Amino acid sequence: MWPRTELIDLLGIKHPIIQAPMAGASTPELVAAVSNAGGLGSYGGAATPPAKLRQIIRQIRELTDRPFAVNLFAPAVEAYQQVPEQQTQMSELLAQWHNELNAGPVPEPIPILGPFVEQFNVLLEEKIPVFSFHFGPAPIQAIRDMHSLGSCVLATATNVREAQTLVEAGVDIIIAQGFEAGGHRGTFAVPYEHGLIGTTALVPQVADAISVPVVAAGGIMDARGIVAAFALGASGVQMGTAFLACPENNIPEVYRQAVLNCKDEDTVITGVFSGRPARAIRNRFIREMENHKDKVLPFPAQMSIGRVLRQTSAQQSSPDFVSMWSGQGAALAEARPAGELIHKMIQEFRAVTASLQVK
Ligand SMILES: Cc1cc2nc3c(=O)[nH]c(=O)nc-3n(C[C@H](O)[C@H](O)[C@H](O)COP(=O)(O)O)c2cc1C
Repeated sequence: MWPRTELIDLLGIKHPIIQAPMAGASTPELVAAVSNAGGLGSYGGAATPPAKLRQIIRQIRELTDRPFAVNLFAPAVEAYQQVPEQQTQMSELLAQWHNELNAGPVPEPIPILGPFVEQFNVLLEEKIPVFSFHFGPAPIQAIRDMHSLGSCVLATATNVREAQTLVEAGVDIIIAQGFEAGGHRGTFAVPYEHGLIGTTALVPQVADAISVPVVAAGGIMDARGIVAAFALGASGVQMGTAFLACPENNIPEVYRQAVLNCKDEDTVITGVFSGRPARAIRNRFIREMENHKDKVLPFPAQMSIGRVLRQTSAQQSSPDFVSMWSGQGAALAEARPAGELIHKMIQEFRAVTASLQVK
């Protein structure tokens, strides 16, 4: 039933629907539910320590015997520069909100990503079937190591140049991430403003420029988006926001409710949570940080220094300081189990395709 099959053939899956890896939000249950329904479930492992990552992979395998993906952030982004003066300023700024929430002292930034080499070794030892990475430059040896296992490698590009660079490095499948997408912009080869191309403009240009399968990502929420992605030249879709209201994921209830109540105009690309541009639902932190952008620490130190504030806010059931990554399509998210969501999208794909037949 799918107009193009190279993606499903390469990945060994039934339906060309990839549940986006979502560091902090994806769980073994979510990954397995999607893979069991014939899609490709992905675990966002960037912030998961190596030993825990091994446990999670084994848990996924207990829940499904179908292919799944594990995603890491490319090693270039995990180290953070120490900027002591800026750190003091940010710490003082955060202290006012810590006081308001009774959240205790502002913590020191600590490494919260990676270490890539150890995480990656776990993926190799566990022989994961699909590896995906966000950000570049591409870890070329890691790609070769995955290939020697017979595994497939996916990576995010936000413009044509990045897609070509990734293919040259050996990546098998390109995820073309449009402007609409929730979470971090995957831009790595150009200033981030050069990677803000909408999905509709990006996908056909990437598809024309490279010879490997292209997966459309950003703003795809249902069968209408999947049909459109195929029309644009993609061989499948990667969807993150659509799975944020599923009960299997691991996001605070205030975040889930914010997704369900989100309107088309409620998200914005901001660097204030992590130090890197990412699309999130507007909240008090984003508003009040507007005049303090010059104090934001480099990624990932900003993400680390804000960890207690975000957690306390979520524990107090307040969305004010939570980083609620979300795409522009959030209003279309549905609170139903992931497997059901996949089955519904497949049914509707048939109906949408039929409705487009010229009479
Ligand atoms: C909550 C959340 C977390 C994300 N975390 C990751 C991640 O860890 N790794 C990654 O490659 N992409 C991540 N992304 C981006 C997705 O891979 C994808 O580009 C995006 O979800 C597509 O747009 P959509 O959200 O409109 O479906 C994340 C997205 C969201 C919404």
